[in-house]
Amino acid sequence: SETVTELLDRLSVVVPDYPQPGISFKDLTPVFADPTGLRRIVDEIVAPFAGDFDVVAGLEARGFVLAAAGAYATGTGMVTVRKKGKLPREVHSEDYSLEYGTATLELHRDDVAPGTRVLILDDVLATGGTVGSAVRLFERAGCTVAGIGVVLELAGLGGRERLAGYRVHALQKV
Ligand code: PRP
Ligand code: MG
Repeated sequence: SETVTELLDRLSVVVPDYPQPGISFKDLTPVFADPTGLRRIVDEIVAPFAGDFDVVAGLEARGFVLAAAGAYATGTGMVTVRKKGKLPREVHSEDYSLEYGTATLELHRDDVAPGTRVLILDDVLATGGTVGSAVRLFERAGCTVAGIGVVLELAGLGGRERLAGYRVHALQKV
């Protein structure tokens, strides 16, 4: 039977020179669009953390796909971590750096109670700026980060080092 690495290699599409010349972009949208692909990556991304979390958090935008499905599959709830200005009520805000400039993620203050164990899901871990910001949001809300799951870890960009001390599980390292 097919391993998750084989499945990702079969269904994802490598796009050369995107978003910039010299960068090869591994596009996961065909994995999400495939019935076997979606079920398999969702099942495998939550499996290492089974029983250890109360809620699944998705990071806008691509993390929403995984987190909603993962929450549904595990009978938990799903919390949205959104880009600045999208959430209507009181938020915690955390900045993170991009290649040029900064961005901000936000979390509704009352979407998670203190003490909640949170599984954070996103599609890709690169520099770890995005996930790092989400970790800080949940810790400010008094939650425990039970783990971090990603489909792809882009090794060599410092993401795992930035998240030292947390349980980080990647389905594939590229
Ligand atoms: C991409 C990707 C991750 C993040 C990884 O999101 O979906 O969330 O970058 O990079 P990092 O580890 O260096 O932070 P992007 O900000 O492009 O937005 P999107 O998910 O809304 O498409
Ligand atoms: Mg993203």
